[in-house]
Amino acid sequence: MPLETLLAWIPPGSPDEALARQVDGERLPVHIAIIMDGNGRWAARRHLPRVEGHRAGIDSVRDTVETAARLGIGVLTLWAFSVDNWKRPRGEVNTLMRLLKRYLRLELGTLMTHNIRFRVIGRADELASDVQRELSAAEARTAGNTGMLFNIALNYGGRAEIIEAVRRAMAAGVTPESLDEQRFSEFLYTAGQPDPDLLIRTSGEMRLSNFLLWQIAYSEIWVTDTFWPDFRRRHLLEAILAFQKRDRRYGGIKAPAAVALGVK
Ligand code: FPP
Repeated sequence: MPLETLLAWIPPGSPDEALARQVDGERLPVHIAIIMDGNGRWAARRHLPRVEGHRAGIDSVRDTVETAARLGIGVLTLWAFSVDNWKRPRGEVNTLMRLLKRYLRLELGTLMTHNIRFRVIGRADELASDVQRELSAAEARTAGNTGMLFNIALNYGGRAEIIEAVRRAMAAGVTPESLDEQRFSEFLYTAGQPDPDLLIRTSGEMRLSNFLLWQIAYSEIWVTDTFWPDFRRRHLLEAILAFQKRDRRYGGIKAPAAVALGVK
């Protein structure tokens, strides 16, 4: 059914339709996380200020969120601002925050239409109060939605998240003996969510850059040279198709080999 919902939105006979029809609706990644990268380079290629790359990147966010929701993806996590991004010029940081607020205001309707629940992960309490208000309003408004969970990682750092989780676990009285991976994950920002099955990074960089360090332990990674502002439905479908060709073993052995060895 979700594949039908996606197909209803794609022009018939288009290359995107051909891609969508190849997707196996039974083997979708439950959680897709994306490192949106290359906005600055996209702008530089066009002799535009960097912020124009961020502005153009909003269309990619819109397209990606709607594609993922229509496809029936369970969780989509987009990294919009890292704990290190404060080092950027103040004007760029301010523009990013303004774009974020505008996105939320303009797209709330779409989030509601597609039954999307919006959540912030990261140190949101360190953001400006007007941004926090906007984020909280969007979280509250979409809290009752039951479709895709859309996490936006803001003022996010993977190591910072792990340190915070350790502190929270200690404060909750968790003893070393009672701590295991499952218990620890309950103190992360993503508590209760499945780990990403697929991590996408745009702009060709082969780095994790401190993103979801704990959660991506077993994620499949797909990197495209495409800069984020050019990323569209087609690229998301390509990533999913590549994911569906992967052989996930979680440290075990290939299924056919297991059969040959008589492993049950
Ligand atoms: C990386 O490109 C991108 C970012 C730091 C910000 C991403 C933000 C957006 C797409 C807009 C706001 C998001 C939402 C969800 C409304 P870069 O600037 O590091 O590019 P470069 O590596 O080419 O310099």
